[in-house]
Amino acid sequence: MDLLEVKDVKRQLLDNDGQKIDILENINFSVEPGEFVSIIGPSGCGKTTLLRLISGLDKPEQGSVSVNGEVVKKPDVSRGYVFQHASLYPWETIEGNISSGLKAVYGRNYDHELVNHYIDLMGLQGFEKSFPHQVSGGMAQRAALARSIIMNPEVLLLDEPMGALDAFTRADVQNVIYRVWQKTKTAMILVTHDIDEAVYLSQKIIVMTPRPGKIKDVVINDLPFPRQRDSDAFLKMRQNLQEKLKFGFNTESSK
Ligand SMILES: Nc1ncnc2c1ncn2[C@@H]1O[C@H](COP(=O)(O)OP(=O)(O)OP(=O)(O)O)[C@@H](O)[C@H]1O
Ligand SMILES: [Mg+2]
Repeated sequence: MDLLEVKDVKRQLLDNDGQKIDILENINFSVEPGEFVSIIGPSGCGKTTLLRLISGLDKPEQGSVSVNGEVVKKPDVSRGYVFQHASLYPWETIEGNISSGLKAVYGRNYDHELVNHYIDLMGLQGFEKSFPHQVSGGMAQRAALARSIIMNPEVLLLDEPMGALDAFTRADVQNVIYRVWQKTKTAMILVTHDIDEAVYLSQKIIVMTPRPGKIKDVVINDLPFPRQRDSDAFLKMRQNLQEKLKFGFNTESSK
């Protein structure tokens, strides 16, 4: 059975004049256990709106989101969410942020070793006692990633976690995500503007149209891992996606 099924989803929101506008229409796709899926599409096409529906923060006007055959009604730790805008608690240290979910569930006797494990895996050693404003953007995103993955979700929703990072830091966080995925085999749904990122990481790439967001294409990316960014097959896949994203979408804007 699929892990996640998005079926005939429609989402409407109110504009400033109180008029209903269609944000998402006819969204259908599924995610298998452990699968890495990217969603790519122009700004405003409804990617964040879609992740919010999958997480259970919002409900669709029509259609449904199901996990393991059960309709999603509210957020749950089995669906981790790394938000588009850095969302670490500013009053907690890096360690405090990473352990916050565990503390909420298990109280003070949470597994400290597990926290140390993720601090190591994310390359955050030496910054445990730093506060979010004292670390780089890349480190903050790695901490946000650790805070979610430590809860052992079945699926992790990643809303442009590299969006605000420079090219070097981006590649670094991409590699961290790759390592975490390889180690944990958690299903991932990554929203991104960046074609290279989608090709580097994902097995399935969902291409969305401008608003109202619909699925234009689902591209299966079966290049072997770890992927070589300069291989012919990689460049061909990249070009293929570039073609599919030609609706006035500037693919260079996020570089
Ligand atoms: N709470 C809301 N009320 C009304 N309209 C909204 C609301 N949230 C989002 N929208 C509108 O819905 C559309 C989709 O927004 P969304 O944030 O999902 O896009 P996105 O694809 O994530 O964009 P970006 O790539 O810039 O993050 C946009 O036109 C936005 O203005
Ligand atoms: Mg968004």
